[in-house]
Amino acid sequence: MRTRTQIGIVGAGPAGLLLSHLLTQRGIDSVLIENRSRAYCEARQRAGVLEDGSVAVLRTAGLADRLDQEGIEHGGIYLQFAGERRHIDFRALTGRTVTVYAQTEVVKDLIARRLADAGEGAIQFSVTGTAVTGLESDEPVLHYTSQDGVRYEVTCDAIAGCDGFHGMCRPAIPAGVQSAVERDYPYAWLGILADVPPSTDELIYAHHPRGFALHSLRGPTVSRLYLQVDPDEDIGGWPDDRIWAELSERFALPGWELKPGPVLDKSITPMRSFVSAPMRYGRLFLAGDAAHIVPPTGAKGLNLALADVAHLAPALADLVHGKPDRADAYSATCLDRVWRSTHFSWWMTTMLHRTPGADEMEAQLQLSQLRYVTSSRAAATSLAENYTGLPLT
Ligand code: FAD
Ligand code: DHB
Repeated sequence: MRTRTQIGIVGAGPAGLLLSHLLTQRGIDSVLIENRSRAYCEARQRAGVLEDGSVAVLRTAGLADRLDQEGIEHGGIYLQFAGERRHIDFRALTGRTVTVYAQTEVVKDLIARRLADAGEGAIQFSVTGTAVTGLESDEPVLHYTSQDGVRYEVTCDAIAGCDGFHGMCRPAIPAGVQSAVERDYPYAWLGILADVPPSTDELIYAHHPRGFALHSLRGPTVSRLYLQVDPDEDIGGWPDDRIWAELSERFALPGWELKPGPVLDKSITPMRSFVSAPMRYGRLFLAGDAAHIVPPTGAKGLNLALADVAHLAPALADLVHGKPDRADAYSATCLDRVWRSTHFSWWMTTMLHRTPGADEMEAQLQLSQLRYVTSSRAAATSLAENYTGLPLT
């Protein structure tokens, strides 16, 4: 079946979903396709921290009703090392905060809104055989087979590749056109979702000789915790008791206790930095994880995805109306922020994790950096400014 739309969007993650909504608000039609089911997209456990700029984007777009009710504003974080837990006060240092609101909830809100605004067909879930062609022309074509087995060819003015790191849009760009800069880290995160009230009022990032640990939360009765593990670690080797024992050891502090509880979800995520540039090839525009990945220690991945499409939506609206300037500036504009977040995420990651095989020099340098960032107002302000996010310009 041959059809036409203005913008074809591949991927119903945070980037693709927000983009289709922002385009609708500008009177631009789009077709959004996703190869997973709605239930799968809504249950996928991932990020949890929104920068205040991301909250502002969602609010301005009229998407923050539940976020404003259920999101938990945090004015700082704890950094724990060498048996001490020190607070970094974002509010005092920058006047800004972050909001804990899970990616699952952002995705649920966006899906519900798209379906309410544009009908049940607004998102084509569970498609197969996605392909993009004619990228060098002014009429690129999005191909897919719908869940009920109909093969579609959708002619577009432009296509947005919002299909994540393992998607097919970036690989559809001819070889040799793009540069990719990549680093794999010698560790991974084992993440759990637990049915237990958080044992802390703010997130705790803990540097420990046994490895990094992070205590986050999802609400008054649900906690989210992470442990540094080896990249080739088998989740089968981590029964719940072992996870709680290891977390307790890494967060240990006199007079404080970690409350354990039933584990609802458990997974291991590798850690990688990756930037592919430019974020455009002809009429294909990449956004979010399709173009770049950061290790999660700085809580930036989701925020970068939202920032990309906040720029991409007006750029594509202009392009459709014959004004290419913002589309031409899109990649360079986003890559500035992407590289700042890539640096910050690398810096937080290498400061807080235990590098396998590291010598005493590296261990002491990490401790010195941690003491500095928690005692110098200038250094703490730099962390706070990066964590709460750069203004969306
Ligand atoms: P995605 O959320 O990956 O969405 C891409 C969508 O495209 C997916 O729904 C996918 O199914 C779909 N898709 C892929 N291929 C096709 C195709 N061929 N056809 C149609 N659809 C397709 N960030 C943090 O800040 N903190 C964290 O703790 C954290 N944990 C993470 C854990 C994991 C396992 C992963 C993968 C990422 C994590 N991130 C985390 C990063 C953050 O979740 C991402 O940066 C964010 O999801 C990016 O959004 P996106 O929309 O660009 O991509
Ligand atoms: C969460 C994830 C992160 O990567 C992070 O740095 C902070 C919080 C979370 O899932 O809550």
